Amino acid sequence: MLLRTMALAAVALAAGAAICPNPPVPALSPRAPADVCIPDPFNALTLNFFDDYSWRMFTAMVWPAAHNQRGGADTARGIGGSGARVFETFKSLWEVFHDDGSAPTAAFNAYDPPSANTCRAATRFGDVVLAASTPYGDIGQAGIGELTGPLVAQNGRYVRYQTLYNQVAYDYIVRNRYYLRDRLPPIPSPRPDVPVMQFPVGSIVVKAAWLDVRGLPKALLSRLYKRPATVRDPDTGACSSATVALIGLHIVQKTATRPQWIWSSFEQADTAPLFAGIVGDYLLNDGSPTPMPEENPIPLVPLPKQPAKPFNVVRNSATSIHPNTHAANSAWRDLLKGTVWRNYQLIVTQWPLQPGNQALPVPVANTGDIYNTFPGTGPGATSDSAFANLTMETFDQRRVELGCMSCHNRARLAADFLWSVLDHAYPAKIAPAPAAVRAAR
Ligand code: HEC
Repeated sequence: MLLRTMALAAVALAAGAAICPNPPVPALSPRAPADVCIPDPFNALTLNFFDDYSWRMFTAMVWPAAHNQRGGADTARGIGGSGARVFETFKSLWEVFHDDGSAPTAAFNAYDPPSANTCRAATRFGDVVLAASTPYGDIGQAGIGELTGPLVAQNGRYVRYQTLYNQVAYDYIVRNRYYLRDRLPPIPSPRPDVPVMQFPVGSIVVKAAWLDVRGLPKALLSRLYKRPATVRDPDTGACSSATVALIGLHIVQKTATRPQWIWSSFEQADTAPLFAGIVGDYLLNDGSPTPMPEENPIPLVPLPKQPAKPFNVVRNSATSIHPNTHAANSAWRDLLKGTVWRNYQLIVTQWPLQPGNQALPVPVANTGDIYNTFPGTGPGATSDSAFANLTMETFDQRRVELGCMSCHNRARLAADFLWSVLDHAYPAKIAPAPAAVRAAR
């Protein structure tokens, strides 16, 4: 009996070792990882496993999409293939939350009629429409459930944000009619330990940062993933076709072991120099030693006309990319040689920490507070990791209280960490922060 148990344990160990190698081995695959892969048991910092998970997730999200199959990857082609990417075929925010509160189509694979978007654009498979119902709706950066000032790139164009949901997340919202505010479950008193809404395991939500490329230097253009999109001009309200580049991508997935979701964040590698003053062409920095302003100098309302005057974005040296994340980036970017994706990098992965064996699932009742998450402030905390994406939380680099999970934790009980549901369920409740509104003089 003992022998049998030992033999089984050895098999389990061998299997575990084969499934979750330490260190993780980078490999390109069109299949998104279902969860992080951590050898069992593992009691130390799991950064390398989470960063490996993030890169697998990123590469699966930017894989060429299977034709006419929203959310599916074309497994017959490599990551360098052309055409729409998997994440671009997810359901975008405007398809889920209609301005008039009407029901989204039940079919994940369908595209909404032109009446559902502000541009009144007819959309076909793989199309991207960057248009919100207010001039600043997809331009304001995310604050604590509100919109803060805009980000102007060096070409004077505002960075545009797009949120997209995979089928698991979409079906859950549609089935429960969570696109309607009066359908959102109330939080009972006393407050429960677990969220009143819980997305199913396998839900994926991404937030993309896009930039109209006009006026960017040639050398930079060749390093960006570019595609056509229908873009609404915030000044005139007119919509036209423009070439936009992906400059940032947040990916969150609800997994079986991490019901607090795993938070992955990528940037195009030319956002800003590694150290202030390195000469070169950057998207958000002019290559001079000019420091970054403490606060966003540009109001969201009224929004200055494009081309707007850019400010210098600098990566805070105290919260730069973690050395292990740098190492993972080099390995993965080597694998991506010959494709535009080699010019993208992981900034941070955030995940819920727990005491002891990290291979075990984290209980749903655990929160996303800073002391419960990486990089955090609790046991195992490191101060030397980024927690903000320069293209999306540009002014949140200094306070870990404003890391991904800590900010989204405020939406945990009501909407399972997803601010967009709280903000956009009809009638929508997303407004510019008072500091982002410049009073008329
Ligand atoms: C200061 C608060 C704050 C921080 C910090 C923050 N976010 Fe968000 N995030 C928001 C808000 C608010 C929205 C919704 C914006 C809207 O409604 O249009 C959002 C939207 C998102 C979405 C779309 C799904 C959703 O939650 O509705 C993703 C994915 C996301 N953020 C990921 C991240 C990641 C990854 C980080 C860290 C690198 C991060 N966020 C940091 C406030 C924040």
